[in-house]
Amino acid sequence: MTEPLIEQTRLWLSRSAEQNISPAEIDPLRTVLRYHEHRYYVLHDPLIADFEYDQLYKELERLEKLHPELIRPDSPTQRVARELTADFPTVRHLVPMLSLENSYNAEDLLDFDRKARELTELPQLEYCVEPKFDGGSISLIYENDRLTRGATRGDGVEGDDVTPNVRQIRSLPLSAPFSEQGVQQIEIRGEVLLDKERFRQYNESLMEEGQPPLANPRNAASGTLRLKDPSIVAKRNLEAFVYHISYYTLQPGQATPQALKTHGGSIQFLWDLGFRSPMREKRVFQGIESVIEYCHAFETERDKLPYEIDGMVIKVNDLALQEQMGMTSHHPRWAIAFKFKARQATTKLVGVEFQVGRTGAVTPVAKLEPVAIGGVTVSSISIHNEEYIREKDLRLGDQVLIERAGDVIPQIVKSLTDARNGSEKSIVFPRNCPICQHTLHKEPEEAVWRCGNWECPAQAVERIIHFVSKDALDIRGFGEANIRKFFESGLLKDIPGIYQLDYEKIGTMEGFGKKSIEKLQQSIDASKSQPLHRMLYGLGIRFVGETTAKTIARNITQLLDLKDKSIEELQQWEDIGPKVGGSIHQFFQDAGNIRLIEQLEALGLTLKQDAKTKTEGGSLSGKSFLFTGTLPTLKRSEAEAMAEAKGGQILSGVSAKLNYLVVGEDAGSKLEKAKKINTITILSEAEFLELIGN
Ligand code: IVH
Repeated sequence: MTEPLIEQTRLWLSRSAEQNISPAEIDPLRTVLRYHEHRYYVLHDPLIADFEYDQLYKELERLEKLHPELIRPDSPTQRVARELTADFPTVRHLVPMLSLENSYNAEDLLDFDRKARELTELPQLEYCVEPKFDGGSISLIYENDRLTRGATRGDGVEGDDVTPNVRQIRSLPLSAPFSEQGVQQIEIRGEVLLDKERFRQYNESLMEEGQPPLANPRNAASGTLRLKDPSIVAKRNLEAFVYHISYYTLQPGQATPQALKTHGGSIQFLWDLGFRSPMREKRVFQGIESVIEYCHAFETERDKLPYEIDGMVIKVNDLALQEQMGMTSHHPRWAIAFKFKARQATTKLVGVEFQVGRTGAVTPVAKLEPVAIGGVTVSSISIHNEEYIREKDLRLGDQVLIERAGDVIPQIVKSLTDARNGSEKSIVFPRNCPICQHTLHKEPEEAVWRCGNWECPAQAVERIIHFVSKDALDIRGFGEANIRKFFESGLLKDIPGIYQLDYEKIGTMEGFGKKSIEKLQQSIDASKSQPLHRMLYGLGIRFVGETTAKTIARNITQLLDLKDKSIEELQQWEDIGPKVGGSIHQFFQDAGNIRLIEQLEALGLTLKQDAKTKTEGGSLSGKSFLFTGTLPTLKRSEAEAMAEAKGGQILSGVSAKLNYLVVGEDAGSKLEKAKKINTITILSEAEFLELIGN
C-alpha cells in the first residue's frame, strides 16, 4: 500500500502544474494527500516537506476548481468552512457519555480489582491501560465511511454539534474505510488536545497582545472547539486522540470484526483505520499488580510527553466482560481513572498588590494564603488586568482554584463562588499610579492600564533592573536589592546614573565593604564595552527581545543609525514585522531616548559595532542555528554564544532560512517541523561541538 503511494507522490511532484489531467486522476491525488496527512498528523513521521505537501494540495484545489462536480466532502480541501453564524445545534449522543470513577493510589486500584473480580467471578482479570488525556472530550460519528458529526460532551446526554471545527483537526480522518471491516455506522469517543509547545506559543501571543494567558491547555482546547470561525480553529493546530468505540452497526450479513472483541483490539482497529489512538502508549496486563506499576512508571514520564495527561485509564480488556459488568448512572464498572498528583489546589485570595512595570503597565498581583502544588509553594499569582478580574469575578476573600500545569506559570482557574459568605469585597482597580499618583491611561485596543509618567520611580527602577540584567548589560554583583537600595537613598535615579555612582557614599552604607565596592565598580566599568546587541536589549524597547536585538545589531554599525531608519527599512530585516519595526522606529524618534543614548556615549559606553564582535569572517559566518530541548552538557545560552563567536546567527524559529537545528532531550515541535525541511541539518550537541571545532 505504502510504496506505490510514495511513487505516486514523486510523480505528482514532478508533474508540471499546468499539465492537463483527467478527472479520473483526482481521486488518486486525494489518496496521496490523505496518506501524507496521516504520516504527519498521526504518525508524526512525514515523508515530504511542507512545501511539497502544499504543492500537491494546490494541485488538487486547481483540479477541483476545474471539475467542481467531482468535489467530495471528505476531500482534503474540504476541511475549511465558512464562519458560523448561528449557535451550535444541540445534538443527542447515540450512547450517553459517562464519566470515570477516580482512584488516587494503589489501594484504590486493588479495591477496584477486587470488586471487578467479584462481579465477574474470575480469579484474575486482563486489563488494558492507557493515558488519561487532559483535553476536551468529543464524540464522533462516521456513517458509510464519512465523518458526519463531531460533538462536545455537553451534559453527557446532549452536546454541541461542532462538526465544522472538528473537521479542522488534521489527526482525524474525514473518511476512513470502516465498510471494509463491515461497519456501517460508528460512534467514537476521544479527546481534543493542544500540545504543550503550541499552548505555550499561544499564551505568549496572547500576552504579547496584552491579553491574559489561559490557565491550561485543556481550557485552550475546549475553548478553541467552540470558536465560531473554523479558520481560526484550523490555525490553532488542535490534535485528537480516540480511545473508545461506544456504538456501531454492521452492514447486512457482516460479522463483528475480530478486533472488536477486546479494548486493546479496538485501539488497534482505530489505529489501522488511520486514527490517532493510544496504540503506542497502551499496555495489556494480567492482574492489577503490573497495572499499578505501569501507572506509577508513567507518572514519572508525565512531563516528558508533548501533551498533558492527568492520569491513566484502566479498562477491563474483554468487551463481553465489560458488557456483563455494566455501568452505574455515573460511570462504567469496567473502567477506572488513576489520577496523578494534583496540579490544582484551592486557597484564599487575601489581597491584591498593583505593580508598575518598566513600560508603566500596572499589573494586579493576587496575594494568596500559601498553598503547595506539585512540590512548589504558591503565595502570589499575577491576575493580569482589570478585564481578567471582572471576567473571573475575583473578589477579596474568595476561595480560588489555582493550577500549575506542567512548567506553566501558576494561574487562577476560577473563584469558587458557591463558597462565598457575603463578606467578600470587590477588587477596585486604581485610576492613578499606585507609585507616582499620575493618572493611568488605557489604549482603546488594550486591556492594560499604564502610567505614562516617564519619571515614575517604579518605572525608572524597573528600567535600571532590566538594563543591568543577565541578558542585557550583565552587570554582575548589582542585584535587584542593591539597585532598589541605591534608588531609594537617592544614589541612583536613572540608567546613566549607573556610571556615575558615588562609591564613597556607598562605602558609608551598611553591607558594603571595600572589596565589594571594588568588584561592583569593576563590573560596571566592564559593562561599558558589552556588545551592541546587549545594549539594544537593555534599552527595553517594546517587542525587542534578545533575538531581535541581535538581528538589529548585525545590521547597523552604531546605535544611533536607527534614528534614520524607516519602519519599512526595519522590516527588511529577519524576524522584524510591522509591530516590532513600529516600536523601534517610535523609540528612536523620541528626544528623551536619544538624549539617554547620547549621555551613555558621553559616559564611555561602546555604542558601536566592535570589530572584535563583528561576526563576519568566522568559520560559521552565514550559517544560522537554533537550539531546542535540553542539551546534555551545555546551557542553551552557552551554546548560542559559541555559535555566535564563530560568526553563526541564532534564529528564533524553524523556517527555510535555518541551516542547523541542534537538539537536546525533549526537543518537541521544533524538531518535528525541522524534519520536514530537507535543507535543515539536525545536530546533536556532540555533532555541534565537532562542527565548531571544539
Ligand atoms: S474512557 C465509557 N479513556 O476522561 C468510557 N476516557 O474523567 C469513557 N478521558 O469523560 C471514558 N482519556 O473525556 C476514557 N483514555 C481515556 C481517556 C478518557 C481521557 C476523559 C474522558 C472522560 C473523562 C472522565
